[in-house]
Amino acid sequence: MKEQNVKILVSRIFPDLAVDLLKKAGFSVTSWNQDRPMTNEELISRAKNHDALLCTLSDTIDQNFLNSCSHLKIISQYAVGYDNIDINWATKIGIPIGYTPDAMSDATADTAFGLMIAVSRKMFYLHKTILKKQWSYFRPTANLGFELKNKTLGILGMGRIGMEMAKRCKGAYNMDIIYHNRKKNDLAKKNLNARFVNFDDLLGLSDIISVHCSLNDKTKGIFNKSAFSCMKQSAIFINTARGLVHNETDLIEALNSRLIWGAGLDVTVPEPMQPDNPLLSMENVAVLPHIGSGTMEARNEMARLAAVNIIEFYKNKKVPNIVNPEVLT
Ligand code: DGY
Repeated sequence: MKEQNVKILVSRIFPDLAVDLLKKAGFSVTSWNQDRPMTNEELISRAKNHDALLCTLSDTIDQNFLNSCSHLKIISQYAVGYDNIDINWATKIGIPIGYTPDAMSDATADTAFGLMIAVSRKMFYLHKTILKKQWSYFRPTANLGFELKNKTLGILGMGRIGMEMAKRCKGAYNMDIIYHNRKKNDLAKKNLNARFVNFDDLLGLSDIISVHCSLNDKTKGIFNKSAFSCMKQSAIFINTARGLVHNETDLIEALNSRLIWGAGLDVTVPEPMQPDNPLLSMENVAVLPHIGSGTMEARNEMARLAAVNIIEFYKNKKVPNIVNPEVLT
């Protein structure tokens, strides 16, 4: 099929670069131009009239969607995570799934690093005290946090983002780095002297635990009551990966009963978090609205990679960043 006859559905308002590249390559592009995501029904009814889809984590690409739109030649996800997509089913029915790894490694690591500092110094909470007119005078023994120098950082998921977080913590605070991962990361050992440990040791030895793994059956809810009770009472828990990796009820209880010191979250369940969530009024907690990849640089690069996955697929039957390469072989 010639590119000009190929119809691409773009499911959100992405940086212009994505649509520009697709149009320049000759595709016919339809974009959803409302700020909100489409409902499942809207997405299915539109995708039915298109050949390929550029979507993101707010779109539900489940079995129902895939069965209704099994004609799609490629789905290109604008994100590094793809837990909104039933990958097994897409693979079974032969649809390649592209994604955008590495584009947001720096931005997400910066978010995790920022949350860690914010929690260690209670910054979000103390900012709110000013708004409530509670800043009266300098108080030598009030509002104390703690320093991060020479602490132990534990990373769950030592991929690209985990490495960037580890680099920042090593460089800024000379932290000792330990990690747990599906497999050992030689570069982490070589460049950062990072040690691979089992999950129990990660919990017991870390002063800060930062989550950078993907969400899957093994990681879903892995930070639960039992995990929090194995952590140091002085520990900070940071999650910039996916909210479902921690159990929020257990986290709230762990913070209330002082099983751990604090938490910094860029991801929650559900998203958006409701304004009356108890986490938002806790002293040692900082929450952000899933902005890990929210820099112009990262979002533009994600747009470029997501578009190139489609362009290369139609040009050379290759998807440069693909989740399920087996469908192309
Ligand atoms: C991702 O890419 O998976 C982030 O969560 C959103 O950019």
